Amino acid sequence: MPSFSIHTYGCQMNVRDSEILARRLRAAGFSDAASEDEADVVLVNSCSVREKAEEKALGKLGMLCAARRERPGLVVGLTGCMANRLGTDVFGLVPGLSFSVGPRAAAGAVAGLARRALAGSRGLFLSDAERGPDDAPAAADAGAGGPPAHASFVTILYGCNQRCSYCIVPSVRGREESRDPRAILAEVRAEAARGAKDVTLLGQSVMRYGRTDFAWPADISSPMGFTEPLPRLLELLAREVPAVRRLRFTSGHPLGVTAELVRAMREIPAVCAHLHLPMQSGSDRILRDMRRGYDSARYLEAVRALRDGVPDVAITTDVIVGYPGETEADFEATRRVMEEAAFDNAFVFKYSPRPGTVSAAKPDDVPDGEKRRRDQVLLADQDARGRRLNDRWTGRTVEVLADGPSLRNAARWSGRTEQNKIVVFDPVPGLARGDFVPVRIESARPQTLFGAVAL
Ligand code: 5AD
Ligand code: SF4
Repeated sequence: MPSFSIHTYGCQMNVRDSEILARRLRAAGFSDAASEDEADVVLVNSCSVREKAEEKALGKLGMLCAARRERPGLVVGLTGCMANRLGTDVFGLVPGLSFSVGPRAAAGAVAGLARRALAGSRGLFLSDAERGPDDAPAAADAGAGGPPAHASFVTILYGCNQRCSYCIVPSVRGREESRDPRAILAEVRAEAARGAKDVTLLGQSVMRYGRTDFAWPADISSPMGFTEPLPRLLELLAREVPAVRRLRFTSGHPLGVTAELVRAMREIPAVCAHLHLPMQSGSDRILRDMRRGYDSARYLEAVRALRDGVPDVAITTDVIVGYPGETEADFEATRRVMEEAAFDNAFVFKYSPRPGTVSAAKPDDVPDGEKRRRDQVLLADQDARGRRLNDRWTGRTVEVLADGPSLRNAARWSGRTEQNKIVVFDPVPGLARGDFVPVRIESARPQTLFGAVAL
């Protein structure tokens, strides 16, 4: 039985795609390799969002293909956003690559491609345009074994129609395509059956779910009176799959923070008080140039609506530093708006020009050292802010979904709150991964809360 291993870069959508690929490979008779070094087939699931991410994946592919000198039968495959971006050019960049397949075409094709490559074929390519009916994830995939997971992802919206000036995603992931709520429901049920209690619904711009490309099925009603597709979907999943006690969705956009969505977050108990809402910049000039569709005031309005409407909501964000033409004044505006928004956490990225995007035509004129400095400043700001915000949790008892032994100190356990805050605590006898436990918070760091089980 040939064995496989998958190496994943990039976002949660890639993590989910890798899970589906693993399940399809198992269903087709492949086994999980004990380690990548022992695998017959290694798949690299790649990301194109920044040049660094692509360099890492290319480096990994190069190493794997070089390992073929000692392991001549080794099959190396590429999937994910780079497969779409590079097309057949990838075979010139990575000599010896066995196959490359677009992320939407991969599920249905991966087992066949791997078998053909094991039989000696090289340079096999399948684009997303050639995907077939088997490529959608199916509830049946959940039966294909693999480790049970109490936290799981389900993709609800593929692609992205927005055209942010810096972003390569629309060109590598295609047009928006919302999945049918009945297919999503079946998949969430299947995830619940294998232990999922926390499910994150995924889309590049998830709040656009169902807005442009389909009509909500007339036979699925909304007793809560929602008219928008995402609140309706959340209501449906919460009602039909009570075992999933936590529902999240990511990534957000401030223009998608509607009154209905805020009400759904407040009134549907399973919907978590947590939202990842990329801001990208606090400078109106830069936001306009980025074509984000909002200015800083509009962004802060969305933050205010969430804070007013959803008790204890945690808001996290993405910010890009060193966008073309970003001045010190633009950067200071970003610092101010981040402070005003009081983010619970922030991911800061140094601008990276991506081929074919609008902003790639502009000079990448903020020097790398300055990008690094701005990155460090924002992270230091966030550290101070995170500590201050997290201090507010000390003395409170929160419900934690236990993930297992903490990575830093295996004697302690870690888990997450509804707000997606990491909590570290001493385990109690009988505690199992995937249990909900009440933990009284005793101290806080910028990224972590510490407490004791309060039974
Ligand atoms: N350069 C740097 N960061 C980028 N992101 C997207 N495109 C780029 C780019 N060209 C960041 C955005 C997005 C996150 C996933 O990656 O902040 O929200
Ligand atoms: Fe990377 Fe974006 Fe592709 Fe996710 S969708 S893997 S973040 S390029």
